[in-house]
Amino acid sequence: MSEFVSIILAAGMGTRMKSDMPKVLHEVSGKPLCSWVIDASKKAGAKNVVCVIGHKADMVKEKIGTNAEFVIQAEQKGTGHALMQAKDAISKAGGSVVVLNGDTPLVTPEMIEESIAYHEKNGYCATVITAILDDATGYGRIVRGTNGEVLKIVEQKDASADEKNICEVNSGMYVFSSNELLVALDKITPNNAQGEYYLTDTLAILRDMGHKVGAYTVKDNNEIRGINDRVQLAVAQTLMQTRINEYHMRNGVTMISPQTVLIEDDVQIGQDTILEQNVIIRHGSKIGSGVRVGANSEIINCVVHDGVDILSSVMVDSEVGEGTHVGPFAYLRPNSKIGKQVKVGDFVEIKNSTIDDGTKISHLTYIGDADVGKGVNFGCGTVTVNYDGKSKFRTKIGDHAFIGCNSNLVAPVIIEDGGYTAAGSTITDTVPKDSLAIARARQIIKTDWTDKRNK
Ligand code: UD1
Ligand code: CA
Repeated sequence: MSEFVSIILAAGMGTRMKSDMPKVLHEVSGKPLCSWVIDASKKAGAKNVVCVIGHKADMVKEKIGTNAEFVIQAEQKGTGHALMQAKDAISKAGGSVVVLNGDTPLVTPEMIEESIAYHEKNGYCATVITAILDDATGYGRIVRGTNGEVLKIVEQKDASADEKNICEVNSGMYVFSSNELLVALDKITPNNAQGEYYLTDTLAILRDMGHKVGAYTVKDNNEIRGINDRVQLAVAQTLMQTRINEYHMRNGVTMISPQTVLIEDDVQIGQDTILEQNVIIRHGSKIGSGVRVGANSEIINCVVHDGVDILSSVMVDSEVGEGTHVGPFAYLRPNSKIGKQVKVGDFVEIKNSTIDDGTKISHLTYIGDADVGKGVNFGCGTVTVNYDGKSKFRTKIGDHAFIGCNSNLVAPVIIEDGGYTAAGSTITDTVPKDSLAIARARQIIKTDWTDKRNK
């Protein structure tokens, strides 16, 4: 397969989405529709990806960022007109140009590669990617001659009654030979029912010029599914989710109820990991093997090492070491690095902290901006007091320290190795190595107090 450039048409309004956001920015499995198409192009080997944008172009550019080049179609005068805006990229392409749509997230790199190979093998100047549908309503139809050769594409609105009976449709995706495409684009006119420049007209034009044109039929019709409204968005979500989940299950991941599991793109999961109901794993996460992710957990961009056990918890931008136990109802906020064999129990929140191996934080505790050593034990209800209303400060706790229940550790503060804090203490000064700090009012006993009061 020779080098190719991919051009993605994405200037349309997407009126039927009924949205303030451009259609191509709506997401399937956590990624904008248009980014799925860009990524499929790149995986297929596109040397350059150009998006034709128009409606709310700035918003699209900002979200898609440096992942593609952009050209602007200021006024939407049809698909042919859209492609004309990318003439520079087409003339620099040299070999093949693949045209895709920004609203077909289910397109795969394999299909793109196969259609280019088919185009090149047959020496076509234009290859339209087609599908055979039971209901072809709304699509352009592929009109073939008596020998099966592709003659032209007619739009629904321009089709005769006979042509409307054709069930082979135009996916809106094509492979072109760049030089011939440039010539054909110059020849299309808006003489049709919609008064638009139809990209589809290039096929008949190239044929009339004596070039070979053909059609490549997809094996899986889902690949060409365009999203026009939120019902189709939900259907695409389900299909994408099935595709992603099946990939992981075939890799050795168990899912108790796969239809409830949402895994975004670019997630790695090791063998023998179990995902229970309603688990969400967002992109960038790397989960080891033999991990259990319990029901209703959400993992966002985290590294979770082998054998970790997570129950109904949420973790963001964090790392959890081997054999550690998290939850139920724990919340790891960004930049938490938890060691091996640690226990992070119920209603524990950790933020921007390191917790070393074997430490136990069993219940009802907040640890923010802290560096905690090995084998530390936190009593129930410990709070690192890390914020004075203006600035954040760090707490440092040495190895094998013991933090009594309901301690407030007012940062900046240090508990040295082996230091103890008595339950109920508010610690404001360093607790030296192997010492006990008691920082609370001494208890007073008033004997027979109840009797006296009741008199
Ligand atoms: C187009 C095809 C039709 C095909 C169908 C598949 C034409 C004339 N018809 O029809 O044969 O079956 O796609 O979905 O090409 N766009 C722009 N600028 C424009 C117009 C459209 O960027 O001026 C973009 C849209 O954002 C969209 C794509 O091109 O991503 C297709 O446009 P759309 O209006 O949906 O084309 P259809 O009429 O559905
Ligand atoms: Ca369409």
